[in-house]
Amino acid sequence: MSESRIHELRKLIQYYRDAYYQEDQSLISDYEYDLLERELRDLESQFGTSAQSPTVSVGGRASEVFAPVKHQTPMMSLDNAFSLEEFEAWAQRAGGGPFLCEPKIDGLALSITYENGVLVKAATRGDGETGEDVTQNVLTISGVPHVLSGTGHPSLIEIRGEVYFPLKAFEKLNADLVAAGKPPFANPRNSASGSLRQKDPAVTASRPLRMLVHGFGSFEGIRAQSEVYQLLSSWGLPTTTQFKVVADAKEAFGFIQELSSKRHDLEHEIDGVVVKVDELARQRELGATSRAPRWAIAYKYPPEQVNTKLLDIKVSIGRTGRATPFAVLAPVKVAGSEVEFATLHNQDQVRAKGILIGDVVVLRKAGDVIPEILGPVVALRSGDEREFVMPTNCPECNAPLAPAQEGDVDLRCPNAESCPAQLRERIAYIGSRAALDIEALGYVSATALTQPLEPAQPPIRSEADLFDLSLEKLLPIRAFVLDPDTGLAKHDADGNPKIVDFFRKKDGTPAEVALKLLANLEEAKSRELWKILTSLSIRHVGPVAARSLCNQFGSIEKILEASESELSAVEGVGPTLARSIKDWYAEPWHKNIIERWKLAGVQLEIPGFEGPVSQDGVFSGMTIVVTGTMQSMSREDAEAKIISLGGKASSSVSKKTSFVVAGPGAGSKLAKAEELGVEVIDEQTFIARAGL
Ligand code: IVH
Repeated sequence: MSESRIHELRKLIQYYRDAYYQEDQSLISDYEYDLLERELRDLESQFGTSAQSPTVSVGGRASEVFAPVKHQTPMMSLDNAFSLEEFEAWAQRAGGGPFLCEPKIDGLALSITYENGVLVKAATRGDGETGEDVTQNVLTISGVPHVLSGTGHPSLIEIRGEVYFPLKAFEKLNADLVAAGKPPFANPRNSASGSLRQKDPAVTASRPLRMLVHGFGSFEGIRAQSEVYQLLSSWGLPTTTQFKVVADAKEAFGFIQELSSKRHDLEHEIDGVVVKVDELARQRELGATSRAPRWAIAYKYPPEQVNTKLLDIKVSIGRTGRATPFAVLAPVKVAGSEVEFATLHNQDQVRAKGILIGDVVVLRKAGDVIPEILGPVVALRSGDEREFVMPTNCPECNAPLAPAQEGDVDLRCPNAESCPAQLRERIAYIGSRAALDIEALGYVSATALTQPLEPAQPPIRSEADLFDLSLEKLLPIRAFVLDPDTGLAKHDADGNPKIVDFFRKKDGTPAEVALKLLANLEEAKSRELWKILTSLSIRHVGPVAARSLCNQFGSIEKILEASESELSAVEGVGPTLARSIKDWYAEPWHKNIIERWKLAGVQLEIPGFEGPVSQDGVFSGMTIVVTGTMQSMSREDAEAKIISLGGKASSSVSKKTSFVVAGPGAGSKLAKAEELGVEVIDEQTFIARAGL
């Protein structure tokens, strides 16, 4: 049993390594790969190893495209630690600190030889003994010096480092590749490797590769790794600025945790932290096994990239009708949570990523960020994959999808009034924190209220119905039980969808959620006016514009009846938004919402409104000069007020000055303002504008 598993593991590992190093393809995630290697090593420690085993060699094999280069000292691998216990055990074996900690860059290893300060050779790792000659390609990497600066270079030095592809540039590269009809890379590491290992160095030159140095040949007269970094940096070599020397394992673990929270702020991907014994003499004492030094360890973070199957691409319809393709994935665990869906934004994105339905794809979930598909694993294609075709009709109401305006990438369902998806999404939005914050009106209730199984006529057929809900209308509702995360129906053990009395207990009395919903709705009727306006899902009218409009007009009806130019004159409201409001109110069923909400007692005005008052940011985007003496406040106070209201307080007048506040004694600045035709106001007017 164990023998056949050993055999199987050796074959598998070699297969994955070949794909990784020769073809720049990650057929499985790094994490799964690490586990296979670890399993094999454990088995071999019990049953014996062999000279042919991948555990005694490192990395891949040198390809035939590039000339072979024998490394002066072998390029090794690193042992991994996946937990604090494993890390502490290593630290103890290594004899304790001080340790140097630095990011483990997810790129590809490179060795560069400088002779008397001149770059003469650059090679990939290959099998660790012999790599590939990529000198011409490396000469194109920005930041890699062709000639070392400073002084005191040894006559011959081999430095080691990691080549990476900056994260931000990765998406663009893939989109360009797909546009040129070429297969995209599955992740930034593959793109770094693929970009470096090009036959034509001009292609490498066109890719924004970077490199960071993390190792070197022997050094005389220097005490510690950290000191060598300083020296290398003084010679113009790119070394990480993120390293830190710590006293012991506990502090090293502190660094590991700290970097984990910053890992997405770096320019490149990292998959862990490398911890090294800092003193070079102790490094020499500890030495190395056949594949890895004993003086260093890679602490690996939980994987944020996994491979999974793209089962399908479906389209969802949002509250303003936007049709968004999303990926349906074979469920996988990544960054601590299970992922089944990932948004794909629009059909252009699907095309740019080069993914086909049926592909194995690389899924990335960085911390709390929403999961994203990076790209396909092209080598795993069977030929049965198919291209995604954006549907021409709304998947829920069958209306033909179309761009709202010519040239828009997004397609929309135009059937705002009766598309069940749009209504459901709008109702759920009304309940959300961004709008009326109605606790009992989440996605699941919104679905039950707009699409119940019984009664056939849902109690909500337009948001006009929302505030007329009553126990009588709620109690008969039977609905599917939905998973709040996925929006899909839950099933019982026999595979039948679960259907329940949604607002009624078994004995026929109202369920808690029914009473709560009605109470919540009652309260929501007197929410702040801007929230009520936001809850109407008028395109472009988000909370910021809504605040501004309500502050100006004090009443929803006044806003809706205002002219386009009156609307555009409001701070933060442009012509598109003004047009959008007018278009919205031109629909009779929208007018009906306002009428019915008013009848139901929803407050559509700010009580006791007496005209616009100052709000945060009234001066935003303005540059204001205060000059002369103020009566009710000091000049500094006035300037502080300007800044706190979003403006810039300047001491000199120019054409860009929004206005000048001039008090008694104002001199040359007042004259300059008059000369340039800049508006001048007095203190009283300033106080009024600032809403003081
Ligand atoms: S030190 C003897 N430091 O990870 C090898 N390696 O998985 C000493 N790597 O082969 C390597 N970032 O290519 C070191 N800060 C870092 C690193 C790093 C990435 C790579 C390196 C190594 C591989 C092992």
